[in-house]
Amino acid sequence: MRLFSICLIAAFAITTVSVLGSAQRSNAEVFNQGPKVCSECHRSEAEVWKGTKHFASFKKIHKSKKAKAIAKATGEKSMKRNETCVQCHYTVTQKKAGGKAKPAAGPSCESCHGASSEWFAIHNNYGGSSVKRDEETPEHKAERIAKASAVGMRWPSDKFGVAENCMECHGLANPNVAPDKLAIMLDNDHPTVADWELVRYSQGSVRHRFYPPDMTVNAELSAPEAAEMYVIGQAAKLVSAVTAAGNSDHAKYKEFQEARAESARQALSKVSAAAAFLANPTAEEARAMVSTIQGKDLSGEVGSLLPAKESYK
Ligand code: HEC
Ligand code: HEC
Ligand code: HEC
Ligand code: HEC
Repeated sequence: MRLFSICLIAAFAITTVSVLGSAQRSNAEVFNQGPKVCSECHRSEAEVWKGTKHFASFKKIHKSKKAKAIAKATGEKSMKRNETCVQCHYTVTQKKAGGKAKPAAGPSCESCHGASSEWFAIHNNYGGSSVKRDEETPEHKAERIAKASAVGMRWPSDKFGVAENCMECHGLANPNVAPDKLAIMLDNDHPTVADWELVRYSQGSVRHRFYPPDMTVNAELSAPEAAEMYVIGQAAKLVSAVTAAGNSDHAKYKEFQEARAESARQALSKVSAAAAFLANPTAEEARAMVSTIQGKDLSGEVGSLLPAKESYK
């Protein structure tokens, strides 16, 4: 019950943040501080991020002919100042609430973990400066996780929420981008990747899994963990595709979303626990399914569908 209510809080926080967090030049309550702030403590994660396309993109992408053409077609000259492009391509930071907002990096820590201005001081506080990690009470820990979630933190343990968030950008389904802008982007050959799959895209260059007990090791997923992530990724993709398809009448956009939905349905047809979700593909049903498969090994059902390690991005 407690877990369930944390999920609800998290789901609420995600909605709030995607509205407030990316509103440009408004007096948003929560805002990004930028990856430098995180890197002071999370050095290993920052090193990994610096090896990704998310990082490299900031200095490059706006210079290409294609980027300039798409930006111009949406009615604005520069990609970094384009209200459409910044939603997915950049981490827009502020020094304080209501302060000047500027793109400071490509997609970075807070693009995935949530704009941090409000959760930053909470997320690593074990109960005062004198309390160490292993002295924290379980109650305090649960409260800390819930409080940070309520103000927009997306914890790695919220596996569905994390997957849902990748889909906003990679499924071209960001709720802050108007359908007519998405239509212009696609009419001008903005790329679409209908077979985008979570294990393949999260376990290559992007992977950072420095968990206890040995936090020096960037651990690979075990076979059961990979199967679980695969299923969660397909569920997030189906919810995202069905929702997005319903928001637009643009033929190419709808075709893209239907292709995404179809590939997710096919994958999930192998999973017996996914039947109720497939009949009613909402985020609530998806979360219910995710909790029923927790700790189960689904490699028998989906093992043969998992991407080969050589294909990881
Ligand atoms: C002052 C040091 C410090 C800074 C700065 C910091 N963190 Fe953390 N962070 C920690 C510590 C310590 C933990 C471990 C908390 C725990 O034991 O649950 C943590 C935990 C996390 C976790 C959860 C890890 C897990 O295993 O669930 C995420 C995600 C995270 N931080 C992201 C960020 C991001 C993003 C930023 C920048 C906006 C940031 N942190 C800034 C110290 C810091
Ligand atoms: C809804 C999110 C979203 C929005 C809005 C968006 N993009 Fe993208 N864009 C992406 C993603 C995700 C990719 C990577 C596609 C892939 O996986 O190959 C991408 C890729 C690109 C590429 C290809 C980069 C390469 O390496 O080949 C260009 C160019 C581009 N976007 C330009 C733009 C411009 C210009 C705008 C603003 C008009 C814009 N995008 C708005 C999500 C978005
Ligand atoms: C593309 C999305 C994405 C970006 C960018 C990203 N993370 Fe993560 N992060 C994740 C996901 C997904 C996980 C969960 C990994 C797992 O458990 O399989 C995670 C896990 C973590 C964890 C817990 C595991 C560990 O390695 O300690 C921390 C802490 C963390 N991220 C911090 C950061 C920081 C700091 C940055 C920026 C330097 C960052 N993340 C950038 C998606 C992202
Ligand atoms: C804020 C939007 C955003 C979010 C959230 C996001 N991405 Fe991305 N991602 C992008 C954009 C934009 C690009 C393309 C950058 C370029 O081509 O310059 C990209 C590129 C990538 C690439 C490189 C692809 C290639 O073909 O080389 C990988 C891998 C990737 N993302 C994985 C992920 C994963 C996994 C998640 C979720 C855990 C995620 N991303 C979340 C926007 C995002």
